[in-house]
Amino acid sequence: MNNNLINQTLKNKMSKVPIWFLRQSGRHIPEYYDIRAKEKNFIEFCLNEDLVVKSTKLPLKYYDLDAAIIFSDILMIPWAMKRNVKFCKNYGPSLDPMIPEETKILKNISITNKLVPIKNSITRLRRELPSSTCLIGFAGAPWTLACYMIEGKGSKDFINTRKALWSSQKWFMELIETLVDYISQKLEIQANAGADALMLFDSWSHMIPNNFFNECAIKPVAKIIKILRSKRIYTPVIGLPFKAGPSIVDYSYESLVDCISLDWSIELNWATKNINKEIAIQGNLDPASLIPNNSCKLEENVTNILDSMKDRKFIFNVGHGLTPECKIENVRKVINIVRNYERLI
Ligand code: CP3
Repeated sequence: MNNNLINQTLKNKMSKVPIWFLRQSGRHIPEYYDIRAKEKNFIEFCLNEDLVVKSTKLPLKYYDLDAAIIFSDILMIPWAMKRNVKFCKNYGPSLDPMIPEETKILKNISITNKLVPIKNSITRLRRELPSSTCLIGFAGAPWTLACYMIEGKGSKDFINTRKALWSSQKWFMELIETLVDYISQKLEIQANAGADALMLFDSWSHMIPNNFFNECAIKPVAKIIKILRSKRIYTPVIGLPFKAGPSIVDYSYESLVDCISLDWSIELNWATKNINKEIAIQGNLDPASLIPNNSCKLEENVTNILDSMKDRKFIFNVGHGLTPECKIENVRKVINIVRNYERLI
């Protein structure tokens, strides 16, 4: 088990570069809409094992990929915490906002029984997928989940979340600690069900005031990984501190992740010089470059990324999720370039 190219790359530099895409299973593949239409409500969709298995496998039908990521959502934890999570068309996620100093900080909720469909889907997928496909489980990082839970929706600046951090720091850190607990549980379930790698999405880490980056992004992730290791779960963890800029250097040394996923704003020569050389790197093609029909310099850009990473343990990916407008033909083109790229080890 676990001798797929991604798991091998997470341990050693390989002559072949593995490839998969963030948000590969979603809306850029027209067939997704047929599967999606089978369940009206998105949460119900994420709890329907047949549809989850189908959506997870969907991109593998179109592309030669090294990984499948379980079809689910980071907001399944707030949903299990009874935060009234809904996905409204043209609005995005909506939750009951948390009020700072709210006394019930939602500890000791049993979330594991609510996540049984995720566990069952992973068990099934691990049985049904070829052993050469790495199956990836995931969760949102504590800060990003706190953002959605306090704000109650998406936001361009998460001002209420940042205000809560400044006004009610003790309360805020208690929420982060509570989330550390639930996130560890969710990752543990996924690893035990057969996930070969785990990913932590900190999609809003660029909203963390810089003097809090350590407390809100690095330490909570390190704690989650310590909890997993203390339970003898050694499944590798990939962290995405999205748009966190130079803070990713400390993150690479201190968060205990096995691999850092780089967003599209990161300059790769800077990254190779500054990021912890022990860990693997994933990234970082701009997903917007996959939208135009004649994307300028797409091939050159993909080759440049591969060349910059020639001395590193490296997984090719996008720097953030594929958007609905991404073209299947462009994705195929990128996969071809990566498949034909040989490197010396
Ligand atoms: O293909 C995959 O990567 C697997 C599935 C996946 C989804 N969400 C499916 C989804 C993954 C890994 C996620 C993670 C996720 N969810 C993140 C972290 C990654 C990132 O993009 O930064 C975040 C921030 C969320 C929260 C979330 N869920 C948002 C902001 C939205 C979009 C709302 C909208 O309507 O535009 C979702 C919904 C969602 N999650 C969709 C999909 C395919 C679209 C809903 C639909 O198809 O009806």
